[in-house]
Amino acid sequence: MSLSRKRLLQAIPSDHARQVDAYHYLGRIPRSAQPLRLLDLGAGDGRSFDVVRLHHPDVEWIGLDIADSSEVRSRTRTDCEFVTYDGVNIPFEDARFDAVFSRQVFEHVRHPEPLLREIRRVLRPGGRFIGSVSQLEPFHSNSYWNFTYFGFATLAVDAGLELVELRPGIDGVTLTLRNLFLTGLRTRSRSFRHYFDRESPLNLLIGKLMASDRLDAAEAAELARLASFLSDAFPAADLLLDYAPPAQAGAREVNAMKLRYAGHLCFEFHRPIEGETT
Ligand SMILES: C[S@@+](CC[C@H](N)C(=O)[O-])C[C@H]1O[C@@H](n2cnc3c(N)ncnc32)[C@H](O)[C@@H]1O
Repeated sequence: MSLSRKRLLQAIPSDHARQVDAYHYLGRIPRSAQPLRLLDLGAGDGRSFDVVRLHHPDVEWIGLDIADSSEVRSRTRTDCEFVTYDGVNIPFEDARFDAVFSRQVFEHVRHPEPLLREIRRVLRPGGRFIGSVSQLEPFHSNSYWNFTYFGFATLAVDAGLELVELRPGIDGVTLTLRNLFLTGLRTRSRSFRHYFDRESPLNLLIGKLMASDRLDAAEAAELARLASFLSDAFPAADLLLDYAPPAQAGAREVNAMKLRYAGHLCFEFHRPIEGETT
């Protein structure tokens, strides 16, 4: 069944509108008596192993990746298990994993649709497909695609996964500027790093305009930086003054707006349990 607009909106949460990242969804996997069986799809250098172990110390972690990419070549760790495959056919039996984690991988996947069907196959019923993917991020590390949140969710639902939740990651303007400075202009700026861990400037702006979010001094400074950058080309200050905000938007509306302009999308899908309707 393909994804309806109504179902898409239901997957946008209303509890809070803060930016998250892929690791957010590791923290939502409940602990159980059995060790978590987790596949990191597109594991790169294996950095998720440490984060997963914070939540699930006895995790059975397997890192899966293609034979060659700059991230695979940068791999040095030997304290976890890596498996190499052809990029589509996951070399594990049906229902082998409780969770498939995939952080910033699908924009690099040459054949996303068959791979999504493979993810469904190797998840146990009720198992989770969690992570993040690029929406508004310029070309990087041989990326092929940019998915809209509707597009990515549609591909996953068409592959037989159930959409549970979508949240905004770092915003697309900040991510574009980061790419320009670090990749295009090859500067050494470190100031973009922390925008992955806390609200990035466009996300702050959206929260401020739609929900009158209170900003602390550091956040106000980030926003001023964005406004001064934009004002070189656009009358940003005038636009902000002109803007008549709607009556206090709720968290779901703010999340929907942040998702529309997100650089990274963060997601949770489940393999449906037979007989259960959603
Ligand atoms: C931007 S890196 C992200 C690496 C890692 N997930 C992380 O968070 O650091 C993209 C990764 O996707 C991998 N990749 C590309 N095509 C793939 C495919 N078909 N299946 C699995 N991984 C793939 C690359 O080899 C690379 O490790």
